[in-house]
Amino acid sequence: MKSLLNVAAGEPATPQPGEKEVAGEILAIRGGRPLTGRVEVKGAKNLVTKAMVAALLGETSSTLRGVPDISDVQVVRSLLEVHGVTVEDGEEEGTLHLDPSGAVAAHFEEIDAHAGASRIPILFCGPLLHLLGEALIPDLGGCRIGDRPINFHMDALRAFGAVVDKSYEGIRITAPNGLHGANIELPYPSVGATEQVLLTAVRAKGTTELRGAAIEPEIMDLIAVLQKMGAIISYEPNRVILIEGVETLTGYDHRAIFDRNEAASWACAALATDGDIFVGGARQQEMLTFLNVFRKVGGWFDVREDGIQFRRGGALKPVTVETDVHPGFMTDWQQPLIVALTQAEGQSVVHETVYENRLGFTQALNQMGADIVVHPHGIDAPDRRVARRALEQAAVINGPTPMHGADVVVPDLRGGYSYVIAALAAEGESVVRNIGIIRRGYEKFLTKLDTLGADFDVIG
Ligand code: EPU
Repeated sequence: MKSLLNVAAGEPATPQPGEKEVAGEILAIRGGRPLTGRVEVKGAKNLVTKAMVAALLGETSSTLRGVPDISDVQVVRSLLEVHGVTVEDGEEEGTLHLDPSGAVAAHFEEIDAHAGASRIPILFCGPLLHLLGEALIPDLGGCRIGDRPINFHMDALRAFGAVVDKSYEGIRITAPNGLHGANIELPYPSVGATEQVLLTAVRAKGTTELRGAAIEPEIMDLIAVLQKMGAIISYEPNRVILIEGVETLTGYDHRAIFDRNEAASWACAALATDGDIFVGGARQQEMLTFLNVFRKVGGWFDVREDGIQFRRGGALKPVTVETDVHPGFMTDWQQPLIVALTQAEGQSVVHETVYENRLGFTQALNQMGADIVVHPHGIDAPDRRVARRALEQAAVINGPTPMHGADVVVPDLRGGYSYVIAALAAEGESVVRNIGIIRRGYEKFLTKLDTLGADFDVIG
């Protein structure tokens, strides 16, 4: 990057360490340069936001460490604040103190102001029902990667004794007779629905048995947070979680698990641009499945005490990958990986089994010269590890294809990241619009690109 230009004022605005990034929505990227250097990842977006909600369940303040400065955190912070929770920044960067002692019901207008901004509001249900006997949930946002229904959440809440009403304001949930433990079986190991059950069951009367639970490392970290608060939660093989409800919980002090989705994204950026990136804070254990695929594609990595280094180990090779719930290959990893696969020698196949519309982003890669065909109803393939789901899609990627610049609009968080690394891998100049979405999940994204030697300007 030459500088982060404040175009209106014509002044250089390169952020210094710790400074906020310039707000901008459009990047001009000049590609063809490898990304090299070191970036740090903080706590996982997909844990931090949930741990913030969990603070509502405590009778005393909580401290959360390793919190990234991303817009999803800001949304949850202001939702907590409109519910009377005091949220303060701690002295150590990335630390939040959350004091729920003044928690109150929020006004509909305040909640509605967050409508469409994030999917986290739905996880306020259990804590708010315990605290106030009522929860109001606005229309949900998040990435547009499929229908993203909330039926598992609502069915689980009903099993705890909640009453769900749809009103013109959104969804109103009450618990006229309190919440009691329940036997719940999820039709699919949904991350959000598992968190919904955990956040509700910990203070429900009696024991809850959850079958078909998601067991992502971020969920295990949420269980650790809840245990610190006084919850009694155990798990058994085959996706069974048992929660013995307790009457009261206290606050917690917790450092969030690292963001393995961000770590995998930078690893793919190293592959795609033929660079060399050390991701500080990344750990091997939670990335085993990713690292296996990374190695099969021809990537080289070195696990060190403070992070993992990623680069190519030779020519890139094609792979067949099926996304799946943990311990499978995460859906969040396939988008950046596909950018690298455009440079592999041969045909790769990515079966997306978690969301029904998470391959649409490949159209823009084709605009940049890639050869990717999406099969909207998936393709039959023998020896599949994952049982085929009705909603799945498949992408067939033929490589290697030279990539050239294009004018593209970011569709969603991971797709947006992928466009940026595709543009960095391509020859010539690209314009990537709507980059604000990337701030939902990647902290100091532009500063990190700058550190890695990317050549770009913020042009709008
Ligand atoms: N589903 C239902 N009904 C429900 C809930 C889910 O049919 O009530 C379906 C979804 O439509 C989807 C599948 O179940 O097809 C999986 O959804 P899940 O509930 O597991 O996802 P989520 O909790 O909404 C979280 C992450 C996603 C990540 C998925 C899968 C957060 C805030 N989001 O979403 O992260 O892809 O789990 O691991 O934790 C991202 O970070 O880019 C992202 C999209």
